[in-house]
Amino acid sequence: MRVSTLMPLLAALHSTYATLTMPNITNTTALPKHYAILVFPTFQALDVFGPLDVLNTLAMLFNTTMHLSVLSATMDPVTTVPQRTPRMNMTHGDFGESIVPTNTFKEVLAKSGSCPERTAGHGGHSMNGTDKGDIEVLIVPGGGGTREPRLEEIDFVKQTYPKVKYILSVCTGATILSRAGILDGRKATTNKRSWKWATSTGPKVDWVPTARWVQDGNIWSSSGISAGIDLTYAWVAHVYGEEVANYVSASSEYVRWRNSTEDPFAKIWDVSA
Ligand SMILES: *[C@@H]1O[C@H](CO)[C@@H](O)[C@H](O)[C@H]1NC(C)=O
Ligand SMILES: *[C@@H]1O[C@H](CO)[C@@H](O)[C@H](O)[C@H]1NC(C)=O
Ligand SMILES: *[C@@H]1O[C@H](CO)[C@@H](O)[C@H](O)[C@H]1NC(C)=O
Ligand SMILES: *[C@@H]1O[C@H](CO)[C@@H](O)[C@H](O)[C@H]1NC(C)=O
Ligand SMILES: *[C@@H]1O[C@H](CO)[C@@H](O)[C@H](O)[C@H]1NC(C)=O
Ligand SMILES: *[C@@H]1O[C@H](CO)[C@@H](O)[C@H](O)[C@H]1NC(C)=O
Repeated sequence: MRVSTLMPLLAALHSTYATLTMPNITNTTALPKHYAILVFPTFQALDVFGPLDVLNTLAMLFNTTMHLSVLSATMDPVTTVPQRTPRMNMTHGDFGESIVPTNTFKEVLAKSGSCPERTAGHGGHSMNGTDKGDIEVLIVPGGGGTREPRLEEIDFVKQTYPKVKYILSVCTGATILSRAGILDGRKATTNKRSWKWATSTGPKVDWVPTARWVQDGNIWSSSGISAGIDLTYAWVAHVYGEEVANYVSASSEYVRWRNSTEDPFAKIWDVSA
């Protein structure tokens, strides 16, 4: 129903999409079902809601089962509001908003640790009533809160990475991956405006200054904030197919940046190649 009401709209789009029809997901490999995003105080809103909105739309339009867990150190709502006064004496008030976690890191780690002999078909974690199965895709956003020690988040990534199929980082979320040691010897990118600090958290990482996003094996990392949206579309194209990614972006009326190796913000923030 929703799809058919979109059709007149889609028909009016750019000629690239002039003949766009709802594609089928042709990938017959087991698609990921359980997505998780980790959040911490002073996360960057778009780092979280950019990728999630792409996935929300995919889940809404296509006939594929997807579950989401929102993970944090505690079950308290997690805010975007800066938790401490910035270096310069600016007044930032309390502007921001919160997201509500579904589970704590501890809860997830305890459940995955308690049944090490899980096999396919028996791997469901009943996280308060919903059997979502093991986490397969973990999304790690950035934001001002990454400047804190973030020990619980780093430990969670370290312990969880060997069990997931994919990990996606946005912006300075890459510093949680680098501090967990999972980027050592790998290519990755991060926020260009925060390049000097962010890359200092991973001296053994092969940081790519000119990339909008980087895929190295099952680790996908993106540049600053909005780049997480482009990363997510590229990842959706990789897993669900290019037609599916195009259909979701056209439905979201989003113009994708498609060249992963070209980031105009590298020049703007003077990050040398
Ligand atoms: C999708 O699959 C359905 C059912 O098999 C088929 O009728 C339809 O033509 C397919 N759509 C596309 C775009 O291939
Ligand atoms: C949706 O997917 C399920 C599981 O693959 C399938 O049984 C069902 O027929 C599909 N429904 C539609 C409307 O394509
Ligand atoms: C910030 O305010 C404190 C207290 O008023 C003052 O001592 C300090 O110099 C200010 N710092 C800057 C960077 O303006
Ligand atoms: C799940 O249950 C545990 C134990 O009762 C509780 O601490 C946690 O807050 C619950 N999570 C959700 C999402 O309700
Ligand atoms: C299909 O899905 C699998 C599992 O998610 C993924 O590894 C693969 O890259 C996807 N794409 C193709 C074209 O097989
Ligand atoms: C992507 O950008 C790079 C760097 O500007 C350029 O060399 C390359 O040709 C571009 N690739 C495509 C497919 O446009």
